[in-house]
Amino acid sequence: MQFKKLALAGLGFAMAAAMAACSTPAPAPSTTEAPATDTSTSAAPAAPDFTKVGIVLSDASQPRWKMAEAQFKTAMPGAQIMYSNNDTSVEAANVDSFIAQGVKVLIINSIDGAAAAAETDRAAAAGIPVIAYDRLIMNTKNVSYYVTFDSVQVGEAQGKYLADQAKASGQKGLNLYLFAGDVGDNNAFLFFQGAWSQLQPLIADGTFNVVNSPQATQLKDTASLSRDQESQIMGPITTLWKPDTAKTLAETALAGATKAQKGTVYLLAPNDQTSAAMTDAFRADKDVTTIYSTGQDLALASVQYILDGKQSMTVFKDDKFLVQECVSLVGSIFAGTPADTSVITTTYDNGTAQVPASAAEITVVTKDNVEQVANDSGLYTITNGQVAQK
Ligand code: BGC
Repeated sequence: MQFKKLALAGLGFAMAAAMAACSTPAPAPSTTEAPATDTSTSAAPAAPDFTKVGIVLSDASQPRWKMAEAQFKTAMPGAQIMYSNNDTSVEAANVDSFIAQGVKVLIINSIDGAAAAAETDRAAAAGIPVIAYDRLIMNTKNVSYYVTFDSVQVGEAQGKYLADQAKASGQKGLNLYLFAGDVGDNNAFLFFQGAWSQLQPLIADGTFNVVNSPQATQLKDTASLSRDQESQIMGPITTLWKPDTAKTLAETALAGATKAQKGTVYLLAPNDQTSAAMTDAFRADKDVTTIYSTGQDLALASVQYILDGKQSMTVFKDDKFLVQECVSLVGSIFAGTPADTSVITTTYDNGTAQVPASAAEITVVTKDNVEQVANDSGLYTITNGQVAQK
């Protein structure tokens, strides 16, 4: 329900922006510099001037951020987007370049939450509010807002899926393989925390046997892990969000596993791209007969994998919602008004401050609903079991 409200609020701005862009004669967006928005004298609330918004996205090779880019282009016409090629020094240079250009708001999807603190502080010193996009920027008081899904809930959905399959089998000693996202990304910890909450009881009671993480086995009786304990487990199984690393981790895990530790396997795969790489490695092992695997993002390749029965589930986190939240926040920042309370509903502790944050809704996707969710998403069309980008 909260979603619908956001959708409408966002749509209002998007429509206003689109109308402003289409109307002729337009208030002449100059080719050199866009006119500054003067909200104090305007009679009706104008659409925010998105040309004054700088957006820094982490990595074009990870499907999630291409999905975000598409939504930004639709909802924030004129906003400038730069990619950081998964390189923190490029990210810092991108932010500095936006600061030098004099943008009025920065939206940063950081590569490494801790590393992004310094550039965020430079933006704040220049009077530019920073919105953290999907990934929290850590250890600075200068993050104005954090737009996000509930990442613990995402991990819970992944863990619950595997736990449900295991319980339904009625067996004990099932083969569980654990993998994590990038330990530089705070989200990876939240996903793991959520998954652990569902998996740990079944590891503790012997339903699952963790094949590839002695650290997890050692901590099997600890229901609630500290950040240090999460790091101990996640360090050796971090995919760094890279499919190649994920593939190598999966191959190494399989090389160290006995035949009995193969057969039916349960894979906690952190996202779609790494899941696809890992399930490929598992399927290539002749001793693996059945794979239950997780993911998130609703990336095109994984939609096809789910249709083909090669990936069991994913979690759709529709960037449309985060971008609509950004549209609303940019509007209130430009207008000098408080954030919409239907957008900012919670806070996150980034180690230094409680950052005002959103909590967009997620959708759990399996073979049962993939066709409907993918078609409804507006991202894909599915015809005769084949997915295509829309
Ligand atoms: C995002 C995921 C994404 C991953 C890799 C995480 O921070 O929340 O949706 O799959 O980064 O790009």
